Amino acid sequence: MAEHGTILDLFAGAGGWDEGLAQLGHHALGVEIDEIASATAEAAGHERLIADLSHLNPRRFSPTWGLIASPPCQAYSTSGKKLGHRDKQRVIACARDLSKGRDTRDDWRRRCLDPDSLLTVEPLRFALSLKPRWIAFEQVTPVAELWRVFADLLTDHGYRTEVGVLSAESYGVPQVRKRAFLIASLDGPVKFPEPTHRSFNARRHLVPEDELHLRQWVSIAEALGWGARPATLRSTHTNSGRHPGGAPRSFDRPAFTFMCGSGHWKIETEKTNRTGRPERRRPEGALTASQFRSSKHLERITVQQATIIQGFRPDYPWQGSRNDRFRQIGNSVCPPVARHVLREAMRSSVQKAGR
Ligand SMILES: C[S@@+](CC[C@H](N)C(=O)[O-])C[C@H]1O[C@@H](n2cnc3c(N)ncnc32)[C@H](O)[C@@H]1O
Repeated sequence: MAEHGTILDLFAGAGGWDEGLAQLGHHALGVEIDEIASATAEAAGHERLIADLSHLNPRRFSPTWGLIASPPCQAYSTSGKKLGHRDKQRVIACARDLSKGRDTRDDWRRRCLDPDSLLTVEPLRFALSLKPRWIAFEQVTPVAELWRVFADLLTDHGYRTEVGVLSAESYGVPQVRKRAFLIASLDGPVKFPEPTHRSFNARRHLVPEDELHLRQWVSIAEALGWGARPATLRSTHTNSGRHPGGAPRSFDRPAFTFMCGSGHWKIETEKTNRTGRPERRRPEGALTASQFRSSKHLERITVQQATIIQGFRPDYPWQGSRNDRFRQIGNSVCPPVARHVLREAMRSSVQKAGR
């Protein structure tokens, strides 16, 4: 690969994309501002340049064969202030300027309600400057609209593109995690990977006909090797008081979307007596709320459980405090999804390069 140029991973974090890439036999140079996430990535064997990439001249990375990027999602995600939504037209205007060779980022940044909204144009700035043979970008689903605009601009520069939303449970990750992807290639058509597993929908009871041939999604219990003991994941989502202890998700299903603050999630099991039987003898309806609560055992989700739910190898060497570790996990791309997406993004370029 070195003779064709580098694979560059922008906003590389702790290494979700890199883990998927390594499974395909490639490695990337990651650019990342956060020292702790970079330390994790390096401990896992992934190369990092610690820098604010909005100040970097992309040409220093030329020639670049492949470009990967997951800009930060806080400006757009449901957990953040969501000012990115109101900044979208400014980001689009800046992207159009970049496509015409005009770098107006400083002007648009000043006009943005959240200056971080404009970090979303960085992958496009690098792509237009470096002309990598293939591209893979990822962000939260509200950014799909921006990816579509970027895809049109990349088409003007000779790329074949595809934009879509993929969900992690469809690729064997024990978690429902929908993310918007853009893939592009200068070497041929691109298409998203076929799902390997069925999609999960808590309100749906029948398997859609076009998913009958797929394997069942992976449950939390199965991924954690939990066994048959009933357990419930309690998220921090209280849904305006409708779920006082957090929204429940049974262990026989895939988990909710893991986020930076999900270290507060709890695992709820029945308290058992010395014979291993549930302590509670009366039916639930016969218990007061406090009796019901005291019949439950609650413990915080562990870093290793979260690591597995995010699709990483269980011994992934996260660095920093417990909060730092959960923040890095919540920020990561699920490696199995990364592997499937990257294989498709680079398919034509690999064939062309005869690899
Ligand atoms: C969504 S996370 C990346 C996930 C990662 N790509 C993966 O594969 O798991 C976004 C990352 O962008 C980093 N970041 C934010 N602003 C940055 C900047 N100006 N320059 C470089 N990295 C930045 C954050 O520290 C965070 O790790």
